[in-house]
Amino acid sequence: MLNTNEFQNSIQKTKEEAFREIDQENRLEGLEQIRVKYLGRKGIITSLLKNLKDFPEEDRPALGQLSNQLKKQVEEVLLQRAEKLKEIQLTLKKGRWFLDYTLPGRKGWVGKLHPVTQVNERIIQIFYGMGFEVAKGPDIETDYYNFSSLNFPQDHPARDMQDTFYINDDILLRTHTSPVQVRVFEKTEPPVRIIAPGRCYRNEAINSRSYCTFHQVEGFYVDTDVTFADLKGVLTAFVWEMFGKDVKLRFRASFFPFTEPSAEVDISCILCSGKGCSVCKHTGWLEILGAGMIDPAVFDAVGYDSEKFTGYAFGMGVERIAMLKYGINDIRLFYENDLRFLRQFQL
Ligand code: PHE
Repeated sequence: MLNTNEFQNSIQKTKEEAFREIDQENRLEGLEQIRVKYLGRKGIITSLLKNLKDFPEEDRPALGQLSNQLKKQVEEVLLQRAEKLKEIQLTLKKGRWFLDYTLPGRKGWVGKLHPVTQVNERIIQIFYGMGFEVAKGPDIETDYYNFSSLNFPQDHPARDMQDTFYINDDILLRTHTSPVQVRVFEKTEPPVRIIAPGRCYRNEAINSRSYCTFHQVEGFYVDTDVTFADLKGVLTAFVWEMFGKDVKLRFRASFFPFTEPSAEVDISCILCSGKGCSVCKHTGWLEILGAGMIDPAVFDAVGYDSEKFTGYAFGMGVERIAMLKYGINDIRLFYENDLRFLRQFQL
């Protein structure tokens, strides 16, 4: 037998439970079951009312009022919920959208350019601002444009099956954007100042640093009196624009068949400012591109007068630049199309 206080608590508890059950019920039949459970002949509220007679006379009016109030409230909430459910059923029947305001919101994502595309466009924009025009060449190339015309000896290891995807003996997927140099030279007389973005392919082992396809941006300038100093100037301006003015450049002597002299260009590590970290392998420097003065043999192949003209060329990997710019440690991420990755580039 409950005392007065316990009876009041029990009313409060019953009320909370009934309201919660009603609120969570999504079927009309379920609501009927709840009604029986609380208000039926043997229902919880009905028995509470029946028990009233056991309480002291002076307490009965207050407790009676509470119990009757509870009964009314539960009836009312049951009715409201039933109406709501009927309305939902009707809406669904009509095939209309039903808006459930209680569901958590969903963000409306807007499609954006792929990070590689964004960086590619930024590179082009910077060189466009320095007077370069855009040219393009085909992804499927001949051995001549990809190699021979660029002064690769017949037995050069880069022609090896390991690095190049051959379609047949003569046709291949370009391994770099340098063939665009030759295609432009064949059609245009100097001066030419060109930037040539495009996709390249290499039959290399796939790992966090290299992938079977990637993008390059080739740049070249041919005129009378073009010097290595011009090359340094234009690349320095580019790096400062791309990574900021406190980044240093280093030109290391290197070799490419189509440039002489050739250089590989490093920038001071943008992650550790040159102090040494895992990304720059504790050297303080990051290689970002290959460059050099165009070899006279290339000019001979396209009929330019190599006594009269000089020119520089450079080629950079777009993914590499994007990885440095955004601190991405695995090139494969660019090609997996995982939205969790791509959505971070809503610039
Ligand atoms: N084509 C070279 C490469 O893919 C890069 C390069 C371009 C070097 C132009 C010098 C001049 O590695």
